[in-house]
Amino acid sequence: MAPDPWEGCFWSWGLLLWLSVGSTGDAPPTPQTKCTDFQNANLLQGTNLKAHFLLFTPSDPLCGQLVEESSDIRNLGFNATLGTKLVIHGFRALGTKPSWIDKFISALLQAADANVIAVDWVYGSTGVYFSAVENVVKLGLEISRFLRKLLVLGVSESSIHIIGVSLGAHVGGMVGHFYKGQLGQITGLDPAGPEYTRASLEERLDPGDALFVEAIHTDTDNLGIRIPVGHVDYYVNGGQDQPGCPTSISAGLVEQGGVKIEPLPKEVKVYLLTTSTAPYCVHHSLVEFYLLKLRNQDTCITVTFLSSSVTSSVTITIPRQQRHGKGIIAHPSPQCQINQVKLKFQPSNRVWKKDRTIVIGMFCTAPLPVHDNRRTVCLPEPVNLQASETVSHDLKITCI
Ligand SMILES: *[C@@H]1O[C@H](CO)[C@@H](O)[C@H](O)[C@H]1NC(C)=O
Repeated sequence: MAPDPWEGCFWSWGLLLWLSVGSTGDAPPTPQTKCTDFQNANLLQGTNLKAHFLLFTPSDPLCGQLVEESSDIRNLGFNATLGTKLVIHGFRALGTKPSWIDKFISALLQAADANVIAVDWVYGSTGVYFSAVENVVKLGLEISRFLRKLLVLGVSESSIHIIGVSLGAHVGGMVGHFYKGQLGQITGLDPAGPEYTRASLEERLDPGDALFVEAIHTDTDNLGIRIPVGHVDYYVNGGQDQPGCPTSISAGLVEQGGVKIEPLPKEVKVYLLTTSTAPYCVHHSLVEFYLLKLRNQDTCITVTFLSSSVTSSVTITIPRQQRHGKGIIAHPSPQCQINQVKLKFQPSNRVWKKDRTIVIGMFCTAPLPVHDNRRTVCLPEPVNLQASETVSHDLKITCI
């Protein structure tokens, strides 16, 4: 085949361009951004960690820059005044790059002006699951060492947010443990179950690992952990049956993902519903109950929302000697289409004798996220709830 005559043409133009740019000589050379992709362990049964830290910045969300041990990360565009999100993938059976990670990082950088650092531990996460598990502590230590260097640059512990997927969630927990729970936030996406369900709190992700720990459990992955591991645990599409009455809740509401909780609750299970089609969303409402009289035991009240065809429930716990309990309820239609609320006081002692206890209190609800009090709607009168009996009230919420 004859050489394409255009090829030579482009070549000379390119040379000309290079010569002309080069010959101006006064502009300082802009540092060449070098993008590095995830490694590919190629079934090398990696027990070697070979962890890479790849920095992604808002200015180029598709380009991961390898942070070398000796280099100054600020020269790569790391901005110490912004928050830092560290993404840790999980077990990679075939030693390949996680397929979701590019889109995930782009989405993160679209949502927040932040430094995003992806931890590539493809080598250490491949082979058999248990050998990946054995690398968790080692990786946790490497990440801690990496974060230490960021802290030296003036990054605050609380501005660090670790997002760990599956086994990566427990790596995040390990790092958080090394930082004595002072990192800002850890999000566990489908924290891994095998080897962790009965693990100690030091070994697995738990609420002590960061100022705010949340976990999203989806039902699609049977490697997922079932037990709650965060301050807030979202169980997408069920996970388990109706949560029992937690023994203690000191909720207020942390502004996270549309859910505000303050001060931090000990443990809250939140059951998220999703629809079967994108964007898989539902509406969430805060429901609150204020007792008129303090009680000497925890008070559990099940709140059920009824819209035309669907019911959604949550059980609120008001701790003993407190007036106020809160819960989050997920429902497929907007809150203003909920036309009825049912309240049921669940007696705590299940004795054969019929419990005649009555509690009286105010019920209020507001759509999440709660930005102000203007959208809070309360039933006009205090309600009387007798143990085990359901009381229905109309809800009149105007659509805006
Ligand atoms: C770092 O981020 C802050 C906040 O967005 C911005 O004002 C500042 O200019 C950035 N610094 C650099 C060096 O880009």
